[in-house]
Amino acid sequence: MSNLYIGVMSGTSLDGVDTVLVEFDKKHCKLHQARTTPYPKEIRTQILRIIKNPQTSLQELGELDRVLGIFFSDCITKLLQSSSVKAEKIIGIGHSGHTVFHKPALPNAFSMQIGDPSTIAAETGITTVAHIRNMDLALGGQGAPLAPAFHQWQFADPEETRIVVNIGGIANISILDPKRPLTGYDTGPGNTLLDNWSLQCRKIQFDDKGKWSKTGQINQSLLSILKNDKYFKIDPPKSTGVEYFNLAWLQKAIKQIEKNITNEDIQATLTELTASTIADAIDKTETDPNLVILCGGGALNTALKERIASLLPRSKLDTTDTYGIDPRWVEAVLFAWLARNRLKNKTGNVPSVTGARSAAPLGGIYYGQV
Ligand SMILES: Nc1ncnc2c1ncn2[C@@H]1O[C@H](COP(=O)(O)OP(=O)(O)O)[C@@H](O)[C@H]1O
Ligand SMILES: [Mg+2]
Repeated sequence: MSNLYIGVMSGTSLDGVDTVLVEFDKKHCKLHQARTTPYPKEIRTQILRIIKNPQTSLQELGELDRVLGIFFSDCITKLLQSSSVKAEKIIGIGHSGHTVFHKPALPNAFSMQIGDPSTIAAETGITTVAHIRNMDLALGGQGAPLAPAFHQWQFADPEETRIVVNIGGIANISILDPKRPLTGYDTGPGNTLLDNWSLQCRKIQFDDKGKWSKTGQINQSLLSILKNDKYFKIDPPKSTGVEYFNLAWLQKAIKQIEKNITNEDIQATLTELTASTIADAIDKTETDPNLVILCGGGALNTALKERIASLLPRSKLDTTDTYGIDPRWVEAVLFAWLARNRLKNKTGNVPSVTGARSAAPLGGIYYGQV
């Protein structure tokens, strides 16, 4: 094994930290090892507290930054132990950090990720690339999504149009059309509302295979209120986060419904919201894709997948498994790829995606300490 990198990804779902060990050559990547380390309850609670209450103290923010730095380092160490590869063999770590605030709108656009990279470089001894979104924002971009360039590298085909849909907490699409410049953007909620509604009503973290949603009926009035949100209407480039699409956003819409609505019906409606905003976004591209490829944890939600398939009858629907990477690990592999690009001084962002005025190598480099 050579050319080894590690990707570390903590997504908005807060389901855990994904770590992957990846080998790259010029054109391909090979996933050697992957694991998700669930968040200890205490750390998860601390992150949620800061996200829900951005008027936090500097001390709380600073300490959580360090706590997460240590926790991410432990996740990396466990990955290395399970693969029997020594830290010295790893060229670099691509570190997503955990987003606690994403505000791509002007003035003073910013996106804040925590999980101190100096701590990771000191604890693991491995060079760490972090704060990967900042340069794109500094160049006037949204800082997101970063996935399209990697999706193009891994999943594009010169003969056909493909659209990759990543369904994490937030969903994003990459349009891989051989005849057009690369584009992609956040379509809106992926799993975040589904997870939070399930957690609130049933104390269960997520709706396994979407089975619970299938016990309810779609409420068309609620669906149309939700879909009337301005985010779905604005043109790309655009990106969003859980500071926007959350239970408070949902509750506001539920209040406008006159009839009683069951919890199951709301879950069915939220599943349709995710599926139909993805399908609408794909229709709007007017590319008539031959193939739509799903990744992210939402690709494991059977009910959601069935709805997407029925809303896009002209496209073949598949998951990234068929194209070399298990859908659960694509985002973490993306961060390994971004670290590789940074350390080779190659660009990571794509101006036609994020709106930045130029492409640049992304992220700061924190050299491993022994
Ligand atoms: N078996 C499953 N059935 C339904 N949903 C699932 C399943 N497995 C994972 N998920 C969904 O995927 C989410 C995690 O996806 P992930 O891609 O890690 O998102 P993020 O990047 O936001 O962390 C879970 O919170 C859950 O909503
Ligand atoms: Mg996740």
